[in-house]
Amino acid sequence: MKEKLEQIRREAEERLKAQNVDLEELRIRFLGKKGELTSVLRGMGALTPEERPVIGQMANEVRAYIEKAIAEKGEELKKELLKSKLKKERLDVTMPGNAPKVGKRHPLAKVEMEMWDIFLGMGFDIAEGPEVEYDYYRFQALNIPENHPARDTQDTFYVTPKILLRSQTSPVQARVMEKQKPPIRIISPGRVYRSDEVDATHSPMFHQLEGLVVDKGITMGDLKGTLELFAQKMFGEKTRIRFRPHHFPFTEPSAEVDVSCFVCGGKGCRVCKGEGWIEILGAGMVHPNVLRNCGIDPDVYSGFAFGMGIERIVMCKYGIDDMRLLYENDVRFLEQF
Ligand code: DAH
Repeated sequence: MKEKLEQIRREAEERLKAQNVDLEELRIRFLGKKGELTSVLRGMGALTPEERPVIGQMANEVRAYIEKAIAEKGEELKKELLKSKLKKERLDVTMPGNAPKVGKRHPLAKVEMEMWDIFLGMGFDIAEGPEVEYDYYRFQALNIPENHPARDTQDTFYVTPKILLRSQTSPVQARVMEKQKPPIRIISPGRVYRSDEVDATHSPMFHQLEGLVVDKGITMGDLKGTLELFAQKMFGEKTRIRFRPHHFPFTEPSAEVDVSCFVCGGKGCRVCKGEGWIEILGAGMVHPNVLRNCGIDPDVYSGFAFGMGIERIVMCKYGIDDMRLLYENDVRFLEQF
């Protein structure tokens, strides 16, 4: 029995030296209920009373020895594991990293925000209106009655005979005037829809920015001053503006407004197509019928309004000759602005 115990001890010792021992397996094999040590102890009944305590003590020593050895080996393995993990997972902080791509505003958003800044600086507020609009606000309220020829001139997307996708931001004028009494000073940017075929200068969806001022004693001089300041802030201090007579049903008088070409200063170049001037918006004095339709007395109040296409201004400003580039979301194009 003595030899057997010695052998168990030696064997355990031997096993623990191995590189990748399974400590749990070892524990079960030597110390477990069905383990080798236990089976030796079971055979103690056959010993003489003198032998028993001697062998018992020896068995306890062997058990204590193996337990301790397993625990020590466990610690050692843990340390080794940590070491190899530290080695494997080491970070080289001197390696060049992956620079995150920094996004940019889309040129349309950029220019629209510049417009906000300019008009907010002049004391305007921003008003919003729905893109799906009643034909009342698009037509009747704006002095375009049922059978007015102006209704045919714009190809509008109709949702129902009375509901449509707005083809301009002007309906917001009527919505604001209905709710708010003068003084009114708002701009309203947003999307508009027309059933146009897509080409370099047309898109079924584009953006406009509407402006409206209503108060006592507002004159065409106020309109001119406002637009001149806008043009100078937008296109440069030397920019001049020019009014050409035009017709819009919701303004009287009405005008189309040009800015002097900010590339050639008016001499004529590729951007202004040799004209020296670039048309940027429509404007005029709010028609008395429109004021009346919205519950504002035209004998007491007067106002001016204007509307411009944001795409057009972006294209002029950056010399972009195809509108489709603004919607394709090609990062190589957008990165330039
Ligand atoms: N709504 C016009 C258009 O889409 C632009 C316009 C002209 C707006 C005159 C106005 C205005 O407010 O007074 O062509």
